Amino acid sequence: MPDQLMASKISYILSIESSCDDTSCAVLKNDQVLSNVIAGQKVHQQYGGVVPELASRAHQSNIVPVVHTALAQANIDKKQLTAIAFTRGPGLMGSLLVGSSFAKSLSLALDIPLIEVHHMQAHILAHFIDEGQEKPEFPFLALTISGGHTQIVKVTDHHEMEVIGTTMDDAVGEAFDKTGKMLGLDYPAGPIIDSLARKGNPHAFSFPIPKAPNLDYSFSGFKTSVLYFIQKQVKENLDFIKENLEDICASVQYTIIEILFQKLEKAVNKTGIKSVAIGGGVSANSGIRERLLSKKEKGWKVFIPPFQYTTDNAAMIGISGYYKFLQKDFAGLEVTATARISM
Ligand code: KG4
Ligand code: ZN
Repeated sequence: MPDQLMASKISYILSIESSCDDTSCAVLKNDQVLSNVIAGQKVHQQYGGVVPELASRAHQSNIVPVVHTALAQANIDKKQLTAIAFTRGPGLMGSLLVGSSFAKSLSLALDIPLIEVHHMQAHILAHFIDEGQEKPEFPFLALTISGGHTQIVKVTDHHEMEVIGTTMDDAVGEAFDKTGKMLGLDYPAGPIIDSLARKGNPHAFSFPIPKAPNLDYSFSGFKTSVLYFIQKQVKENLDFIKENLEDICASVQYTIIEILFQKLEKAVNKTGIKSVAIGGGVSANSGIRERLLSKKEKGWKVFIPPFQYTTDNAAMIGISGYYKFLQKDFAGLEVTATARISM
């Protein structure tokens, strides 16, 4: 890369996220977001979940306009860019291929460095996007909760992260989305359950807390118990869901929060680390945010990401790219997208 770019203190990084069903592009000036454009994909709603083939096709048609819009909103010409960052994985292979191929081509065409980013690390590093807020100090624990992951991560540096607890089966986002499907709600159901739950009684119905070893999670048994409960109630009263929707949502959400926080508390006690951040799409949940905030009374320092950086977005890929850029941690053009990668 041109030495004068490295020598200058200002970097303009263009980042691309395409791991699942959102096509996103951001431009960052160092650790500040100049633009963060996200094209969602409504096509999956009718199927109650993401259809991988349709997701890749939609990324194909979205990516060029999304990148153009991100550059225009940032008021940056592509010749000013210092590096290109992209999500290498984990995620859906066909989706990742679109973003990674585009990023590689752009880096080649502009002759600027390419930076590969781990999607789940990016959900954590979103806390370092500079919006004038207090940022977590190392070490801290991160609860990363999304449609594909549920992890407790010990973060010792921008680049050093260790997963100390993870789900043995389904992710928490799936528990929200599958419950929503049983209730006849649209996909993704997480935000809908969140808003219905606010009007319901969290103690109206009770569901069992699954048993999982150490700091690990399990959500598949929980999902089945919600399914059996709904089937049994509907058999007795065909209108059960309609008459109790808010209470069901509140009770399901309450149990999910209990499951998440029992292990998170265990992790805090085990590691002695009382600084806790949340990240990932499910961290947008208002009940989870409230529960985390209540832990301040127990002496925890808590960090909640700005709402727009919780669900998938390219700004979090950009901030991760920035910290790798500072270390000159660049990828070769032979780098390939990877559906599964460890942290
Ligand atoms: O991080 P994300 O955008 O994509 C993945 O990497 O998976 O997370 C998407 C997940 C979905 O399961 C969605 O239902 C859930 O995040 N979600 C929520 C809320 N907003 C999004 N779950 C509960 N409450 C919310 N407010
Ligand atoms: Zn995500």
